[in-house]
Amino acid sequence: MVSLCYVNGKIQSLKDGVINISDLALQRGYGVFDFARTYNGKLFHFDDHIQRLRASASELHLKLPISGSEITRIAEQLLKDSTLNTPSVRLILTGGYTYSSPVLEYPNFIIIAEELPTYPNAVYSNGAKLIMVEYQRELAHVKSINYLNAVRLEPVKLQKNAFDILYHSHNGITECPRNNFFIFRGDTLVTPVTHVLHGITRKIILSLASNHFTVEEGAIHLSELDLIDEAIITSTSKRVIPVTTIDDQKVGSGLIGDRTKTIMRLFDEYTNDY
Ligand SMILES: Cc1ncc(COP(=O)(O)O)c(C=O)c1O
Repeated sequence: MVSLCYVNGKIQSLKDGVINISDLALQRGYGVFDFARTYNGKLFHFDDHIQRLRASASELHLKLPISGSEITRIAEQLLKDSTLNTPSVRLILTGGYTYSSPVLEYPNFIIIAEELPTYPNAVYSNGAKLIMVEYQRELAHVKSINYLNAVRLEPVKLQKNAFDILYHSHNGITECPRNNFFIFRGDTLVTPVTHVLHGITRKIILSLASNHFTVEEGAIHLSELDLIDEAIITSTSKRVIPVTTIDDQKVGSGLIGDRTKTIMRLFDEYTNDY
């Protein structure tokens, strides 16, 4: 399998792609990224990903060194020249070198064509278990490279046999480390709007669901967890995963509900036709 990357203007094999160890990404964890995938060989909502990358970069006072259309052209070329089963594209903009002056003016820009990760079929057919952790991501609307807490909790997730973590804080229930979280209160689909990353999948689900359900962007309080009927998590690579257990407590009946099945079907249809 051939996987290619682009680093500051040069296309090469992924294993040869390097930046200097003086980068702020390594020394300070300073940088942003985005992750897009393909369906039917075509980049999916790529303009949305570029727009979010640009917005994340701007929050960190970083500028994309090339235009959106140039990013798309390079990403398509990497995909064409790589041999991947289900290709995806990672865009990374780092803080640049510690010795660059003025600081943050010379970010390193990387595009990687890589294989999309897969997840066990069982989570789609039986539902996933989440465990709650009290935490609020810093600059939550920014897709930064900082996943410190998420990585740190990997062993805890394994130990508790959970598929994912669900963050909560004084802001209510927010999101998972790498997924957005939705609940059904009756026929109303609810997802938090503040203190979360605005997922591209989240946006699509809200739009598709609005033809079938009442859709609400607003807070989900910890106290209402016992009362929710159904829950799902969404992301680019995971698509729509039903959540049937949270902290050893069943969500609703503990089975995948009909509304969740509708959302999964709508998303399948949308991506199959893309
Ligand atoms: C913190 C966080 N929330 C939500 C998501 C889901 O976003 P998307 O649907 O764009 O993949 C991600 C994606 O990696 C994320 O890192």
